[in-house]
Amino acid sequence: MTRRTPAAGRLRIKPALALRFIPVVSAARINRVARLARTIWTEHYIAITGKAQVDYMLARFQSPEAIAGQIKEGYGYFLINAGRRHIGYVAILPQPKRQELFISKLYVLDSQRGKGIGRQAMAFIERLAATHNLRRLTLTVNKHNTGSQAFYLACGFVKSGSVVKDIGQGFVMDDYVMKKTLERKEHARVLV
Ligand SMILES: CC(C)(COP(=O)(O)OP(=O)(O)OC[C@H]1O[C@@H](n2cnc3c(N)ncnc32)[C@H](O)[C@@H]1OP(=O)(O)O)[C@@H](O)C(=O)NCCC(=O)NCCS
Repeated sequence: MTRRTPAAGRLRIKPALALRFIPVVSAARINRVARLARTIWTEHYIAITGKAQVDYMLARFQSPEAIAGQIKEGYGYFLINAGRRHIGYVAILPQPKRQELFISKLYVLDSQRGKGIGRQAMAFIERLAATHNLRRLTLTVNKHNTGSQAFYLACGFVKSGSVVKDIGQGFVMDDYVMKKTLERKEHARVLV
């Protein structure tokens, strides 16, 4: 993606978009996530991993059946909703034994980036973690996905290692691991 930067000397003002994070609990919402995944992954990842890997990963991890299976395993999926539009999605996996919340997916449509939506989604994820009494956020991010790494650094994450995962058919995921330790907050509550 191309980062939109403000003109030199001009203050960058981000209107606070009123977002809702809608739990993905029906076949219709799962289908909506799958369609968003195809759009966002195609626009973002072909330049990073190539089309063959994007097609393979979409079929393997983001088909309606694959998403439904992940939800059964304990993943939480949420559509990011602004007014009448779904503009991205989030998937998380609570890992209570490790006291961690794994951020599996955080995707915003290219046309909606740079407006503070990622930050609002991260604040939502942090509230989820607090609700589950989890102390850390973790994620993996492609080593060439530099814009998203910059986003996570801006949100307070640090790189803590790297991992190469064989995902079959000759494809690998070559990622950094990033972590953020959360401050303890009392009486956390999540509104969706
Ligand atoms: C990563 C992503 C979720 C960020 O969402 P966003 O709505 O564009 O992010 P925000 O507008 O809230 O940006 C928050 C901060 O992150 C930083 N940031 C975000 N994108 C950046 C980029 N491409 N390059 C540099 N910094 C960036 C900015 O410093 C910004 O700080 P600011 O508030 O001081 O300007 C979004 O770009 C995205 O969906 N990317 C493609 C999919 C992807 O790679 N997801 C992550 C998979 S691991």
